[in-house]
Formats: sequence, C-alpha cells, structure tokens
Amino acid sequence: MSHVVCPGSFDPPTLGHLDIIGRACRLFDQVTVAVLVNPDKSGLFSIAERLELLRETTSTWSNVTVDSFTGLLVDYCGRRNIDAIVKGLRAVSDFDYELQMAQMNSGLAGVDTLFIPTSPEYSFLSSSLVKQVATFGGDVSHLLPPEVVAALSRKLPSHIGLR
Ligand code: PNS
Repeated sequence: MSHVVCPGSFDPPTLGHLDIIGRACRLFDQVTVAVLVNPDKSGLFSIAERLELLRETTSTWSNVTVDSFTGLLVDYCGRRNIDAIVKGLRAVSDFDYELQMAQMNSGLAGVDTLFIPTSPEYSFLSSSLVKQVATFGGDVSHLLPPEVVAALSRKLPSHIGLR
C-alpha cells in the first residue's frame, strides 16, 4: 500500500490544494493531509478550523485522512509509516525552495518528495493572496471550496466580495 503525505499550512485550504490532494488520491492508496502546527504563527484560521475545513472538503475521497503535526515533517512520516511527500508546484518560482526542502528531507531521513504540477487555472493561487484580497473586499469565491467561502465570510463578515 502506498501512503503519501500532502503537508502544508492550509490557512485556509484553496481549490489549488484540493486539486493536488485529489490527484494524489488517484495515484496513491492512502493520502494523509497534514496541517503544520506552528507555535510561532497564529494564522487566520485555528488549527481546529483548518482540520474541520479539510475534513469537509475532502470527504468525497475515501482514501484521505486529515491530521496535524508539529516538528519535522520527516519525523511525522516515520511515525505514520508514510513513504513519500507530495507537493504541488505552481511555477518556477516555487521550485528553488521546494527543491531545497526536498533535498533536506531526503538527506535527513531518506524521505522522497514527488511534485505534481498545479493545474494552470490555479498557478497564481495561494492562501496568503486569498486572505489579502478578501480582507480588502475582493471576490475570491471562485478560488475556494464553498465551505471555505462560508468560513471566510464569517471571519471577515464586512467584505462584500464574499457575500
Ligand atoms: O503550506 P506551506 O507553509 O508552504 O507548508 C510548508 C511545510 C509545512 C510543508 C514545511 O514548512 C514543513 O515541512 N514544515 C515542517 C518542519 C520541517 O520539517 N522543516 C524542514 C523542511 S526541509
């Protein structure tokens, strides 16, 4: 059984994340979506909210498990018997940092990283851009699953772009 992890901050999950998770689901037997708990960064959504949103938005895929982790990703992979890390690559600008992390993780524990190219319609999409645009009233509803649109409009209720 192949078991991979899709790690990230997911603050909040976007259609770009779900594109990668869904494609990983078709390629591997088991996919764990793992939210990084970073004590130095609070984020817009709490870890519990991110986990709930990920559970709701991945519920149609029977081979997905949603979890959180602290510390090194490779240690988490060891504890959960995960074979490889799956990351989305949006553009060349992602590549430098992703390659560094992939090589570090491989050197630390022999855990390989597999890259899936993001679908072109999401190549510009990031959680931080979504939050920035939504904060100033821009409409980001076409970039998010409906559950996240609803959660974001509860967090930022005065922003017409999400009504
Ligand atoms: O969504 P993000 O913020 O791009 O995700 C980054 C993430 C969570 C994949 C990365 O920061 C990570 O793996 N953090 C865990 C700590 C760790 O293992 N650091 C060494 C990476 S080489």
